[in-house]
Amino acid sequence: MSGGIAAYKALELVRLLQRAGYGVTAILTESGARFVTAMSLQALTGAAVHTDLWSLTEESEMGHIQLSRSADLVVVAPASADILARAAAGLAPDLACTVLLATDKPVLAAPAMNVRMWRHPATQANVAALAARGVRFVGPDEGEMACHEFGPGRLAEPAAILAAIEQHFAAGALLAGRHVLVTAGPTHEPVDAVRVIANRSSGRQGFAIAQAAAGLGARVTLVSGPVALADPPGVTVRRVETAAEMLRACEQALPADAAVFAAAVADWRVAEPSAAKLKKAAGPPVLDLVPTVDILATLARGPRRPVLIVGFAAETGDLLARARAKRERKGCDWIVANDVGAGTGVMGGERNTVHLIDAAGEEHWPDLPKGEVASRLVKRIAESLRKGHATA
Ligand code: CTP
Repeated sequence: MSGGIAAYKALELVRLLQRAGYGVTAILTESGARFVTAMSLQALTGAAVHTDLWSLTEESEMGHIQLSRSADLVVVAPASADILARAAAGLAPDLACTVLLATDKPVLAAPAMNVRMWRHPATQANVAALAARGVRFVGPDEGEMACHEFGPGRLAEPAAILAAIEQHFAAGALLAGRHVLVTAGPTHEPVDAVRVIANRSSGRQGFAIAQAAAGLGARVTLVSGPVALADPPGVTVRRVETAAEMLRACEQALPADAAVFAAAVADWRVAEPSAAKLKKAAGPPVLDLVPTVDILATLARGPRRPVLIVGFAAETGDLLARARAKRERKGCDWIVANDVGAGTGVMGGERNTVHLIDAAGEEHWPDLPKGEVASRLVKRIAESLRKGHATA
């Protein structure tokens, strides 16, 4: 932990890591100790905090070389411009830098500094040099900074740093090396300058699938319509509004090993939305509706078709027969059928009861939280990709 106002957020990271079952050994630099105390770190980690290269007691308990080798991963959070510069130059004036120089373990850095310090060519050259030596970076995020300036330089959120750490350890995991594309949420099709055609989809199921796939080590692109959900950590999120934009974002994300189409895409759009706001006095408008592009069907029949395509069938009656027909009509390998009728609470809710249908048959899953549906589904996707065929 090096110096910077963001050091307090790194305390939260320590808490998250411990909750996730990791053992944490903390090294605090002298400038880091100006922002957080060794005492609070010690209370959180439940272990001695290392601060001093020249402490005989510390050296006799665990020498700096042993310290640098005892970890599975070295995380620098926050990583100040100064510690990045020292690490890039191979300087070792204090314990943290000595450990960075002596370690034979992978290093993950989460930079945090003023936007101009981050953009300075010296810092950028240091980051490039460290990246070329295999140091991985998470963040910095863009936003308002403690110094009231705006831009990149904020420490990545603790949950995002945790996700990067989990992804590192998931390298041998079921979906490591795979790219998974997920669509989620509704689309908004403009009627006029202020009004849209929309639906009740919350995006929860798609977001949960993206997060579960990232948890199994996949690189995940999540293309989402307008929803009120935060980016799942460790997932690349593309926010779009219309079906046409969703298709474009999906095409840009290809190639993918698997694609899960959980979005509730609008079926109709207004042929020529009015650039101005329609006025009430003009009377009820007659909307000339035309079909939107079918994203799933387009990608399933396109030249860069993902190996495994999973669609969703949102139905309010005759669920299984309609879902089976939809699977064939759209050209997807599997379809996840769910009843979204009024009273089921599925659209916008927390739980889902689904049926997984492939060419060979169907499986009925119990009523589950959407997160649980997501992890079961991505495990099946991982197994199927591993076996190299498309039966569920
Ligand atoms: N889908 C899509 N693009 C569309 C419409 C649907 O990619 N324009 C995808 C959905 O994400 C879902 C699947 O197709 O995975 C089925 O969506 P659904 O709304 O159930 O089917 P529709 O084709 O719209 O058929 P209908 O409205 O008649 O049930």
